[in-house]
Amino acid sequence: MEWSVPVNEMLRDDITKITHTLVPPGFHGDVRQVRVVQESLSRTIDALGEQSAQAQGLSKVITTAEKLRNAPTHTLYLLKDPKAKGGRGEAIGLLKVGRKHLFLFDERDTVREVEPLCVLDFYVRADRQRHGHGRRLFDHMLQEEGVRAEQLAVDGPSAKMEQFLRKNYGVERLLRQNNNFAVAPQFFATSNDVRSDSRLSGLTTQRKNQANYSLSGRSTPAAAPAVGRFAAHKPPSAIATVIHGGGGYFPEVSAGTASSRPRLERAMNSH
Ligand code: COA
Repeated sequence: MEWSVPVNEMLRDDITKITHTLVPPGFHGDVRQVRVVQESLSRTIDALGEQSAQAQGLSKVITTAEKLRNAPTHTLYLLKDPKAKGGRGEAIGLLKVGRKHLFLFDERDTVREVEPLCVLDFYVRADRQRHGHGRRLFDHMLQEEGVRAEQLAVDGPSAKMEQFLRKNYGVERLLRQNNNFAVAPQFFATSNDVRSDSRLSGLTTQRKNQANYSLSGRSTPAAAPAVGRFAAHKPPSAIATVIHGGGGYFPEVSAGTASSRPRLERAMNSH
């Protein structure tokens, strides 16, 4: 028998922060009730995660309950419409964030070792987009996490995300990195390196690229991209190309291509 708890019973607030426990904050119940709510919540997360992947053309789903359960450092914000489904409520958006240990290049070709909060997945149901729901969800996350939009790294930003950041947060352009993350130029003014750069300063450009390739986000690095713009050979010395992704600002990502790339080990990552 399939259990299903109405969204309004599972999620008390319009925006709910979910962690690896998969128990909504404020939920009380016995073991059986907790299990039922976890199962219902998991199905809700899986359904939205699947839609998000489809909307972004990903070949692999980024957000599932199982993945969240196994990632204690990730946080998922769920947005509901309490009036939908005849007053039972409906989950209409998700935003997943988490810290990642990354090597990023600034505009002066300096490699920086940082651990920013990253936008790992972001989705509002197709029939609800452009009604301010994304902004609400994003604002809530910024406030909860105590960060500004330009302090975030975005994993595999889509063209819609580019527009969204520009319109809502004045982020005019993003610097795309070869590990598929992108940051605002202002990012580097406020981010602190997690350790001295000296270990990296002696690295060749090729080695720096390897470092970046080694520290992938969700869509995994572009070490051996299969198709699309990622298929083009990138000379290791063309550092500006690496920083800007070789295609101007914020080109649409063929994330399906990206996520189908093999995941490389975090060779230089101590985490
Ligand atoms: N085309 C271009 N820009 C779009 C867009 C679209 N289809 N949908 C949203 N945007 C941008 C625009 O800047 C828009 O402002 P405008 O309508 O005045 O042009 C703004 O977002 C709307 O903001 P808001 O209503 O708060 O956002 P939203 O509820 O539409 O949610 C997304 C924004 C990105 C989460 C949503 O569009 C989405 O789920 N897209 C598909 C998945 C995706 O690309 N996720 C980003 C992964 S990094």
